[in-house]
Amino acid sequence: MRVKIQQGKLEKFACDLLALKWVQGQKMDGSTGAVDKALKGLIFKMIKEEGFKGKEGEVMVFPILGGKIGAKKVMILGLGEQKNVTPELVRKSAARIVKEARRQKSKKVATIFIGTGTAGIDPFTAAKAITEGALLGSYTYAKYKSKEATHDLVYPNELAIVTAGVHERATGSEQEKLRAAQRGIKEGELYSQAAIFARELVNEPASNMVPKTLADEAVALAKDVPGMEVKILNRAQCEKMGMGAYLGVAKGSDHEPYFIHLVYRPGEGSKRAKDEKSGKGLKRIAIVGKGITFDSGGMSLKPAQYMETMKCDMSGCAAMFGVFSALPKLKPNVEVHGISAVCENMPSGRAMKPGDIVRTVSGKTVEVLNTDAEGRLTLADAFGYVLKYVKPDAMVDLATLTGACVVALGEEVAGYMGNDQKLLELVKKAAENVGERVWELPLVEEYREQTKSHVADLSNITPSRYAGAITAGLFLQEFVDKKPWVHIDIAGPAFAEKEVIPYMPKGATGFGVRTILELLKDM
Ligand code: BES
Ligand code: ZN
Ligand code: ZN
Repeated sequence: MRVKIQQGKLEKFACDLLALKWVQGQKMDGSTGAVDKALKGLIFKMIKEEGFKGKEGEVMVFPILGGKIGAKKVMILGLGEQKNVTPELVRKSAARIVKEARRQKSKKVATIFIGTGTAGIDPFTAAKAITEGALLGSYTYAKYKSKEATHDLVYPNELAIVTAGVHERATGSEQEKLRAAQRGIKEGELYSQAAIFARELVNEPASNMVPKTLADEAVALAKDVPGMEVKILNRAQCEKMGMGAYLGVAKGSDHEPYFIHLVYRPGEGSKRAKDEKSGKGLKRIAIVGKGITFDSGGMSLKPAQYMETMKCDMSGCAAMFGVFSALPKLKPNVEVHGISAVCENMPSGRAMKPGDIVRTVSGKTVEVLNTDAEGRLTLADAFGYVLKYVKPDAMVDLATLTGACVVALGEEVAGYMGNDQKLLELVKKAAENVGERVWELPLVEEYREQTKSHVADLSNITPSRYAGAITAGLFLQEFVDKKPWVHIDIAGPAFAEKEVIPYMPKGATGFGVRTILELLKDM
């Protein structure tokens, strides 16, 4: 779908569906009023007769006969109360519009510039939100659906944001507004495509998405891209580096593990040269993604029901890939390293057993009492590698780490925790900007005792099930030294069991991609 901005009169705009908004209790004025006038009060009548209140998500669609306006159908979308009109609501609303357009089999859709009126959202932010809502909301994983089942996916193919400017040609500030909107559309496209790239990887069934598949994807990402490099380590190389925890997890699988290290370096023309001259230096950040292509639980096998969605256990790695897919265009002024210790967690005659003790890159040993707490083991070695070979200024990890985090915060909110107030703030701000919800969990020092083992330095589970997301975080913290670090547990929001947010369809969501892009942009 193409998103564009165009200046013109809404009532004259030729399209299959024209989407207007209705805020609870609003007057029939502005752009909706102009269309209503052209329709001789039809909208007003319909609203009254249908008892349309304008509650958030409420929809009314009716055909326009006789060519009184340019549109073939009009859609009125409720936005709820005026105070609820935020960029996040704009994003949701755009998703609702494209979904309705698909139901109506409308190809060419026009919408007002939602949010830029009374709500006063700036044109860049509003255009970006509309674009993201439209693109993320119309995404469907259709690769394995028959043609008949997918023929409606061609609707819509265009979304035009029509600014109801009265001028035939934009002048002065109008022109600036349009330019800002155009930038918003571009960035919205970039962010959405990156998130969709992650969704595609996660939605792929685990038997077709093995570690080698991800390694190949990483190579493809870096191929012929200036400033991007990739290094793939095989089992023998990881063994040499002392990644006993990661390889312990990988042991049970018939598929070879691959450790992935992507690097993005900003181009010469960037601020980089200047910063280096001024001695400020370029910031280097590592993004670590959990990359378990399938989590059966290993010998501590999961019950069937809990295994159903475990192809999602490489969502952190996929999010990191999504970020890298956008970096060449986003061009942030930071050096970015993307790391993932990719493997499958399977039971077999060669699998790691409960009670085994593994040695990590850091030298610390871990007693593996439950092979289903595998994420922290692979991350421990990924962190060890980062500290030793990448030496970044900051590290952020994204991991579908604990069911406990889902119990605590549900499917819509990620838990995050870390050791550096400034970095925590940056992550929070970035997530807020893009509408991904995160909630900080405390790394309670008093609970650290529970992560200790009496036969090794650490145990990969705790004696009690309480505060599972936090104790997992405390375990990870053992492997970051004093490095500024934030851990984002995306076990809840990475994979939607059902659609709750209209631009987060059932299945993989691409959660984290837009937050990290925003974080890198802000740095
Ligand atoms: N991959 C799971 C966590 C998970 C749960 C992700 C639900 C997505 C949705 C992780 O490896 C796991 O199995 N964790 C265990 C840890 C426990 C054994 C300490 C859990 O949360 O039950
Ligand atoms: Zn597990
Ligand atoms: Zn897992």
